[in-house]
Amino acid sequence: MRFAGANVLVTGGLGFVGARVARALVAEGASVTILDNGFNGSEQAVAGVPAHVVRGSVTDADLVADLVRPADLVFHMAAQSIIASTADPREDFASNFIGTLNVLMAMKGRPPEACRMVYTSSASVYGNPRHLPVAEDDGFCVLSPYAAGKLCGEHYCQAFYEVYGVPSAIVRYSNVYGPGQTNRNPYCGVIGKFIEAAISGQPLRIHGDGEQTRDFTFVDDAVEATLLAALTPSAIGDVFNAGTGTECSINTLARLVLEAAGSASPIEYVAKRDIDNIPRRAVSIEKARRRLRWAPRVRLREGIGRTVAWYRQMADTHP
Ligand SMILES: NC(=O)c1ccc[n+]([C@@H]2O[C@H](COP(=O)([O-])OP(=O)(O)OC[C@H]3O[C@@H](n4cnc5c(N)ncnc54)[C@H](O)[C@@H]3O)[C@@H](O)[C@H]2O)c1
Repeated sequence: MRFAGANVLVTGGLGFVGARVARALVAEGASVTILDNGFNGSEQAVAGVPAHVVRGSVTDADLVADLVRPADLVFHMAAQSIIASTADPREDFASNFIGTLNVLMAMKGRPPEACRMVYTSSASVYGNPRHLPVAEDDGFCVLSPYAAGKLCGEHYCQAFYEVYGVPSAIVRYSNVYGPGQTNRNPYCGVIGKFIEAAISGQPLRIHGDGEQTRDFTFVDDAVEATLLAALTPSAIGDVFNAGTGTECSINTLARLVLEAAGSASPIEYVAKRDIDNIPRRAVSIEKARRRLRWAPRVRLREGIGRTVAWYRQMADTHP
């Protein structure tokens, strides 16, 4: 019960990862309030969880201030996905950047010992890194408005810490997947899309030649890194990768999904999208290992198996 009695605000708590964070916090004794505008999430993600859900936007400064005031801890996770952000950079700027500024401004009004925050950033800030696996201080390469917004949010967290003492820690996720990432959500990641196609006998569509790599993180591992960032006092003012440190090509991923689902779906190669401009990704997790005492527990093959089982169960209960 690491969060027993804590009042916690989770922005974006109806989304894929946010809902799992909210569930974990409730299970660990916290009293959780979720702020989410439903752009990409729904109450179904926290069904049966005794959390207080406020439907509203992080762009509403007064609402954010009202919700931050009683909180001991804020997990700021509300964001537009990379696909939505690329389609509408203005909305992305409002949600991802102004939203973050609103949370920080509200935090600034609280004594630093009263409330801490974790900001969930993204490995997309590395773009095409010079070295793999890329470490936190290896530099940035911004290749999308989404990455620009996430990095801006990080810089503001760090600036508010330096100037006003607002205590925040940053976790950079790398391609999170797992149960809860449903393909009913149009912004679902590649693993969810592949699984849905594999179990329904549809082709698995690969953008480009499939040799691009990513570092896929099981959702429970990402959640634990996020909670540890909140629990570790020395994480304040710092940034941590959450990944596995290993690359997997999309071709390999497709094979793993077909195997786990026992599917004979074909693989289809289609044109690259505007967001497909990062050929390789793997993040170093040494800093999180050392400082947060965190390590990923779920290997890709096992995580895919667990996600396939969840999809099958979903298909049975919500045909
Ligand atoms: N899933 C990944 O692979 C991944 C990778 C890197 C970083 N991240 C970051 O992790 C966080 C969670 O990602 P996710 O995969 O759960 O995404 P998600 O899209 O499932 O969840 C984001 C939630 O934010 C909500 N939201 C969007 N705009 C909002 C606004 N203006 N006000 C209030 N709520 C708003 C959406 O409705 C959604 O429920 C995000 O900050 C994202 O940038 C995720």
